[in-house]
Amino acid sequence: MITIRKFQPDDFASVIEIEQKVFNEHDPFYYMKFYETCSEGFLVAEVNSIVAGFVVGYRVSEDIGRIFSLGVDPGYQNMGIGSALLKEINLRLNLSRVSEIVLEVRQSNVRAKRFYERQGFYVSGITERYYYDGENAYIMKLKLY
Ligand SMILES: CC(C)(COP(=O)(O)OP(=O)(O)OC[C@H]1O[C@@H](n2cnc3c(N)ncnc32)[C@H](O)[C@@H]1OP(=O)(O)O)[C@@H](O)C(=O)NCCC(=O)NCCS
Repeated sequence: MITIRKFQPDDFASVIEIEQKVFNEHDPFYYMKFYETCSEGFLVAEVNSIVAGFVVGYRVSEDIGRIFSLGVDPGYQNMGIGSALLKEINLRLNLSRVSEIVLEVRQSNVRAKRFYERQGFYVSGITERYYYDGENAYIMKLKLY
């Protein structure tokens, strides 16, 4: 059974552990900053009281939301946790009246791109050399209304 709830400081170590397994590219400092500045959009997924995934989303402007990162522990992937986290963050951003949600995905991350497409996102462009190692990013969007 998957429970989605707001991040709490006690979850920090688990979130950073998952982050390092699946991305290993965001400074942990960002996550504390998100907690301080937009805790409404910082969610974790629990399975049997274990933090198995997280998502960070926030409003960039009046009507645009952005997903900063979404990660699920490799041992818990393909169980619907990523979809559940994405659904919940979309719902929360929708309630805060954003009309579209944007995110970036590495061009090599075929699986995440397909995952987001299944959730209704589409590729709206490419940002060249978006990542620190020079890789391009797909800009993906979801129209809420
Ligand atoms: C992308 C990511 C968040 C998806 O998380 P997830 O929990 O595995 O996602 P879900 O289980 O909801 O869906 C994944 C797949 O499992 C399938 N699935 C969902 N529930 C399932 C279930 N109960 N049984 C079997 N398969 C299932 C889905 O159809 C989906 O297929 P797809 O990959 O072809 O789209 C995860 O792979 C991840 O953390 N990747 C590394 C970090 C990353 O790339 N993040 C995205 C960029 S910000």
